[in-house]
Amino acid sequence: MCGIVGYLGHREAYPIIVEGLKRLEYRGYDSAGIALFDGTDLKVSKTKGKVVDLENLSEKEITKHGNVGIGHTRWATHGVPNNINSHPHLSNSGNLVIIHNGIIENYDSLKQELISRGYTFKSDTDTEVLVNLIEDVQNQEDVKLGKAVQVALNQVIGAYAITVFDKNKPEEIVVARLGSPLAIGIGVDEFFIASDASPFIEYTKDAIYLEDEEMAIIRKNKGIKIRKIKDDSLVAPYIQKLQLNLEEIEKAGYDHFMLKEIYEQPKAITDTYRGRLLRDQAIIKMSGVEDNIKKFLNANRVIIVACGTSWHAGLVAEYIFEDLARIPVEVEYASEFRYRNPVINEDDILIAISQSGETADTLAAIKLAKSKGAFVFGICNVVGSSIARETHAGAYTHAGPEIGVASTKAFTTQITVLTLMALRLARAKGTITSSDYHHHLLELEMIPNKVKKALEYDNHIKTIADIYKDATNCLYLGRGYNFPVALEGALKLKEISYIHAEGYPAAEMKHGPIALIDENMPVIVIATKKGHYEKVVSNIQEIKSRKGKIIGIVTQGDEQVRELADHVIEVPETLESLSPLLTTIPLQLLSYHIAVMLGKNVDQPRNLAKSVTVE
Ligand code: G6P
Repeated sequence: MCGIVGYLGHREAYPIIVEGLKRLEYRGYDSAGIALFDGTDLKVSKTKGKVVDLENLSEKEITKHGNVGIGHTRWATHGVPNNINSHPHLSNSGNLVIIHNGIIENYDSLKQELISRGYTFKSDTDTEVLVNLIEDVQNQEDVKLGKAVQVALNQVIGAYAITVFDKNKPEEIVVARLGSPLAIGIGVDEFFIASDASPFIEYTKDAIYLEDEEMAIIRKNKGIKIRKIKDDSLVAPYIQKLQLNLEEIEKAGYDHFMLKEIYEQPKAITDTYRGRLLRDQAIIKMSGVEDNIKKFLNANRVIIVACGTSWHAGLVAEYIFEDLARIPVEVEYASEFRYRNPVINEDDILIAISQSGETADTLAAIKLAKSKGAFVFGICNVVGSSIARETHAGAYTHAGPEIGVASTKAFTTQITVLTLMALRLARAKGTITSSDYHHHLLELEMIPNKVKKALEYDNHIKTIADIYKDATNCLYLGRGYNFPVALEGALKLKEISYIHAEGYPAAEMKHGPIALIDENMPVIVIATKKGHYEKVVSNIQEIKSRKGKIIGIVTQGDEQVRELADHVIEVPETLESLSPLLTTIPLQLLSYHIAVMLGKNVDQPRNLAKSVTVE
């Protein structure tokens, strides 16, 4: 949450920072701000609203010249989104300026202490406390900025990525991280700072990702020094070559990133299984699994932890792992798991699923499981992310950057990775017959083409969206493998159209949601041929007798549901275990079109953020 951008070099900092903030707006977008050193003085401009509002304000407020600057796009934690609470924040003297992503948990006691020493505060933020704490250390101990930041951070409890500089020494920027990501791009005599590499990808492919509890002092002509915050020891910088391309983070002619990402799924799924699914050799090759195969085979159970859409992918995995590999699986919200004193043993395997690899609760769940001796496997999309680094082994989804806040291709590629794992383990355990195994490999290989076919119903789905766009409630039903898809469909609608929606196991409808059904209630029922088709058809009958409006997600050629439903959307036939990869597609498109028709901000829905780095 919150996006950070900084620049120190020879170019104009303003356009780099503003363009960078736009790329990071997925991290939060309730206010934005910038601080520039224009050669003689510090200019700060900040406002409630989006980066474009900041741009409009900057037109009037500040000169846009200067080679040093920092900028912020905020997802509010402490203090409502308003102009005063927006970052950057200045210290009382006006010398230090800071931007911050994270939460300082003990900010109140620190603030009281600073107040008792005469400091005053304009905002309600924890960040303003931190910048004054740094200034206080400087005043008391007469140390350089880097040292003052270090001493201050050792008094702080919480999570942070910070960028701070002193207007009297604008040739130096100090950054630090604990729990929130921070990348430093290294150019020729210039440095870029950002929450991820996207703001500087066209300037340099060389980047350092700070590790937790590290800080860096970046000096214009002297380079970078990285230190451990706790003990001041020096860390040798590890420079990575970025694989990211500019085209991957642009809309490529689509109206929204979400639509682009929905349409990217055939390619994303192919990229996920490329080099792993070797059908002609009848093998699945995943080094993270291979290297630890004994652990997987001897595991007592698998515990899957995740949040949001990734949690839904975990639920699909529960079906496929138990069904094919006969491994007991529990799926937990990371936020619950981490605080409920769970029983974890050394022969448990924890699988953490996260698109961003930065979700605070998932990260904390991993640390907890590791501390109890469990083996932890990560499934992430963002290469080099905190979760990818914190886990013992893992597999990347290779979906490419996902920028729309509502997750789409991350979900289907996570399911693809989990399916590959389940098949590999099923084969090793002998819980799948050879023909069934081959059939799965063949069908999985055909999924990208079938997703393409499912996408061809886009216009038809748009027509249905137009009919139901004014609904105030929606019910999503599915059974078996498609129960988590129902949850995901409901989540997509809630997230971007703000229509209340609930996902339910179809049979469970009778125990509550059926009371909601009347002629105004659209009920989206996943009723594909394989699985519990007849049972779901009975559920559809029950909805029909109560006059609910039925939108059936059906297998191509289905006649029975077509007769009963108000509308059907077809998906190609596949194995039941792979059906979530197809049934999800129409639900993504339905939510997308409804949100567009309602005039909602599809890529940046209110109150949400793509990467939740606070608990
Ligand atoms: C946020 C996003 C969701 C995402 C969830 C988990 O809530 O808006 O789209 O599913 O975080 O994120 P992760 O990066 O851990 O998958």
